[in-house]
Amino acid sequence: MPPDIASLREQILELKGKRRAIILAHNYQRDEVQEIADFTGDSLELSRTAATIDCEVIVFAGVHFMAESASILSPDKTVLLPEIDAGCPMADMIRANSPRQERRSFPGFKNAPGLLYPAEFTLRDIKAEHPGVPVVAYVNTTAEVKAESYICCTSANIVQVIESLPFDTVISVPDRNLSLWAQRNTKKKVIAWDGFCHVHERVTREDVKNARAEHPRALLMAHPECRLEVLEIADHVTSTSGMLRYAKASPEKEFIVGTELGLMYRLRKENPGKTFYPLRKDMLCPSMKKTTLGSILRALKKNTYIVRTPEEVRIPAKLALDRMLGIR
Ligand code: 13P
Ligand code: SF4
Repeated sequence: MPPDIASLREQILELKGKRRAIILAHNYQRDEVQEIADFTGDSLELSRTAATIDCEVIVFAGVHFMAESASILSPDKTVLLPEIDAGCPMADMIRANSPRQERRSFPGFKNAPGLLYPAEFTLRDIKAEHPGVPVVAYVNTTAEVKAESYICCTSANIVQVIESLPFDTVISVPDRNLSLWAQRNTKKKVIAWDGFCHVHERVTREDVKNARAEHPRALLMAHPECRLEVLEIADHVTSTSGMLRYAKASPEKEFIVGTELGLMYRLRKENPGKTFYPLRKDMLCPSMKKTTLGSILRALKKNTYIVRTPEEVRIPAKLALDRMLGIR
């Protein structure tokens, strides 16, 4: 281990102990960040951990909505996001109330007729058009959007969440691909928002064809934020931790990985006898790579950056998260 990394690790571990802090890291974080984390997981696992962990400080190595969810679930703890600019572009594609002008010209919105709504609406507009229809909010949303929603979901449980509701129609925000995937797997009607994750949206059927030609024995695991044309031909569609479980349990030895490159670290570490190939070499989320050992150390030293949610938003947002966490 290079001496600078060793020294940063040492300082972080010492301060972490002094402050009764824990580090939560998403599966897409840098290798060295995952390595120092107390817990690494997918969005659902991280929410469950944030809600129950015993500590005074949570350092969230992830993106803003994740730290915000932790602050909603654990208001008595200090929640730190080491890089305040680590946002999720998809979460910014929907606003609870005030529309954002620039979304109108955001490249990539389909504004397709039918299921998908044009991006210039707010969540409140859509709710007004469908009175009584519950909103299922992906955790990749702001606290304000969660507060306007009936229940949250993650990529690991969206179908289960929709099936659990006593309604035949739901509004699903903000990821169109995840929503269309859910529609494929439920008889209920899913009204989808027009958002997307730029990392997963770029993958095409052609990429799958090329990867399979190069690695004919490999199974394809795809994240449900990928386009439906990709999901339809994948061997397994699941969240990031779902991929870890699938690869471990499978007797197969080779896998093509259809998600952000950060997941490779745990896949390779936890499966030394197996081989993993990225579906595309550019599946990289810059926001997820912002957090470094240096910024984690700074967070612990200087309390940067405290994420707190005002009570009037936190209470209804927590209800939506609690409804999801109550489903087993
Ligand atoms: P999961 O780890 O929950 O599958 O989330 C993927 C993601 O894109 C988080 O930003
Ligand atoms: Fe958002 Fe996609 Fe990055 Fe996850 S990978 S934080 S969904 S932009």
